[in-house]
Amino acid sequence: MKRIKCSQILVVLALMAMSACRDVNKKAIISETAGTNMQTPMESTLQQTNFDTIIDGRAVKLYWLENKDLKMAITNYGGRIVALLTPDQDGNYVDVSIGYSSIKDYVDSDETYFGATIGRVGNRIAKGKFSLDGTEYSVVPNNNENALHGGENGFQDKVWDAEQPDTKTLILRYTSPDMEEGFPGNLTVKVTYSLTDNRAVRMEYEATTDKATVVNLTNHTYFNLNGEGSGSILNHSLQLYADQFTPVDQGLIPTGELKNVKGTPFDFKDFNTIGSRIDEEDRQLAFGGGYDHNFVLNGTKSNGMNHAATVVGDLSGIVMDVYTQEPGIQFYCGNFMASENTLKSGAKDDYRTAFCLETQHFPDSPNQQDFPSITLRPGEVYHTASEYKFSFR
Ligand code: GLA
Repeated sequence: MKRIKCSQILVVLALMAMSACRDVNKKAIISETAGTNMQTPMESTLQQTNFDTIIDGRAVKLYWLENKDLKMAITNYGGRIVALLTPDQDGNYVDVSIGYSSIKDYVDSDETYFGATIGRVGNRIAKGKFSLDGTEYSVVPNNNENALHGGENGFQDKVWDAEQPDTKTLILRYTSPDMEEGFPGNLTVKVTYSLTDNRAVRMEYEATTDKATVVNLTNHTYFNLNGEGSGSILNHSLQLYADQFTPVDQGLIPTGELKNVKGTPFDFKDFNTIGSRIDEEDRQLAFGGGYDHNFVLNGTKSNGMNHAATVVGDLSGIVMDVYTQEPGIQFYCGNFMASENTLKSGAKDDYRTAFCLETQHFPDSPNQQDFPSITLRPGEVYHTASEYKFSFR
């Protein structure tokens, strides 16, 4: 094993500084092969002190998970992934998740979902209203007239209790009080992040309630498989194991229909680049400003989970496979990204330079009788898991 010298570290830091130029070929490079304990440039960039703070009287920190293949930084502010490092075919670590370099940026930014745990109800609830057992509830609208991702102060703004039982596992806990954001019931939530032996990031969710409520938890990591700050994701190839999607209205609320993707730009049953049909004239693409839709997973089983998606970074050759126990996945391709924020690599969050694959129950489920239910009752345990697995080709 080679040792990194001071001069090499300086070279690496210089490379990081150059990343602000957003050269498309650039990746987070280290001079060691994967699986060593050497610091990557991203690890040196993410200063622990920029994450050590107190919010709502609770301690916030940055936690690093690591196994022989992957490294991941998570903050308990919003239970969010800040950095996710996976090797490319040359053994160089690439940071494939979008994030900021300080808690201050997460708090101040208008884009609050980077990497975050989303809850109590992921995606939209029409007009923020729903009925449960005859009682009507209202969540404050935060996305035009609709409620998005759990309302104004969703789980991405909460400080979670963190416990790191070993180097590759982080357990986060949060109790959402009765009527928080308008949702009934004290909801006790546990999210376990772990790095598995087969190169996957596993996210496991559990929740219980003391009153009937609605729950739909997910993770909102923005990915760029060529590396954060390396430009457009439109040339990434995507395969979605979904014959149907849920069309939406102008406010991105599902119409209730399950539409076959055949003959539409939503057909990703075979590999297609994300960008190949994104500018076609299509009402659904117009409503979403691009892809921002829930796909109905076919239920192609792999290790007891639905194989949801495969994505390939065109420049890095990094492959990400998504598996989930959820029935759906929201494919969002960064249509609202507007170069307003500076990322940890120094690049701006430019339009469509990242995509999300949010495993979930379908949007607006509380108001759609024919969609799988997201109601959780006292005595029941909400449990779901998803995995994002990395390889290269
Ligand atoms: C989800 C939504 C999008 C957008 C992003 C966050 O993916 O469906 O419309 O709100 O979250 O910007």
